Amino acid sequence: MAKLRVGLLFGGRSGEHEVSIVSGRAIARALAEESNATQYETIPFYIDKEGCWHSPEVSRQVLDSGEALAVQGISAAALWQFPPETASIDVWFPILHGPNGEDGTIQGLLSLMRVPFVGSGVLGSAVGMDKLMMKTAFAEAGLAQVNYVGVTRSQIWSNPCVFPTLCDDIEAQLGDYPYFVKPANLGSSVGISKARSRAELETALDNAASYDRRIIVEAGVTAREVECAVLGNDRAQASVVGEISFNSDFYDYETKYTDGRANLAIPAELPAEVAERLREMAIRAFLAVDAAGLSRVDFFYVEATGEVLINEINTLPGFTALSMYPQLWGASGVSFPQLVDRLIRLALERHGEGLPESASSGDRATSAEENRSLK
Ligand SMILES: Nc1ncnc2c1ncn2[C@@H]1O[C@H](COP(=O)(O)OP(=O)(O)O)[C@@H](O)[C@H]1O
Ligand SMILES: [Mg+2]
Repeated sequence: MAKLRVGLLFGGRSGEHEVSIVSGRAIARALAEESNATQYETIPFYIDKEGCWHSPEVSRQVLDSGEALAVQGISAAALWQFPPETASIDVWFPILHGPNGEDGTIQGLLSLMRVPFVGSGVLGSAVGMDKLMMKTAFAEAGLAQVNYVGVTRSQIWSNPCVFPTLCDDIEAQLGDYPYFVKPANLGSSVGISKARSRAELETALDNAASYDRRIIVEAGVTAREVECAVLGNDRAQASVVGEISFNSDFYDYETKYTDGRANLAIPAELPAEVAERLREMAIRAFLAVDAAGLSRVDFFYVEATGEVLINEINTLPGFTALSMYPQLWGASGVSFPQLVDRLIRLALERHGEGLPESASSGDRATSAEENRSLK
């Protein structure tokens, strides 16, 4: 039987480009394991930091070296040129973290190609990426979370006279410091600051506004950080729960990407009831944003009160051999190569749930007619 051609998409125009290369290497290795190699042929496509797609040959070199390609300037037309091998892909495996990859943009392009792809569609990706939309969806699903206020860059930058009023409003809504000020659409803690005073809030807002039009200000909590991995589509399952601990003030960029700064405990030492509550909340969060395939859901566990607050969902979480997502599944009995296989199967399953091709004209007209006759 012919092997399924898997298009592995990695790199991307995002601050998490380098992590994506490491995730891409790990997935390529898993696809080369015998159980997968008999079913799948891997065709890699590297997207450079400017957003240009590279041939499988160049992409294999990037996978082998682990080094990003140096790029200087591109033409607009180059962004719309895809290597010819893209036309032969049976299923896409995008492992692009952050903007332009985890946010629905690539998912839109792949949907237009009408080829199945791993992970969430446009809606789940976009809602999961934007911290304000994500929190709106979580609130609607009844998931507990910290208090927060949404602000825009124009509110922060447009009129210096209004700025003090904006800060007054934030303080009135959130109460005591500290606050966490975040660009709504980044990731990897980029642009995030902890504000302990009015002066720090002002600086933090200005800083976050340089990264994004949409900004979220949250009440800070003192809590343990615990995470759960979700796998599946409509009947998704949750993994065991893991914990991240570190010595820095919060889980900032440096702590995330400097070796030895953070520790993972899998499974986390938690009362069984708390772990069960987290797993149940992780699945509700997954469904609340309409995610598919995979997600890592991150929580704050306030040990003093027993409270569990949802922090965020990541619809394309880090996927290196050392990343939390595959490790949580490893501890739940799903090996890395099995996980990759399951995700491809879920992509095919989800694709089959789309509108039947014939529904594009005739069928819909019929049902519209039926509807009219019912009224
Ligand atoms: N409301 C909060 N209270 C306490 N710590 C927070 C809060 N929000 C974020 N943090 C800290 O900042 C880190 C990064 O925030 P997060 O919202 O997860 O951003 P990212 O999407 O970049 O991972 C968290 O892992 C946590 O350490
Ligand atoms: Mg986070």
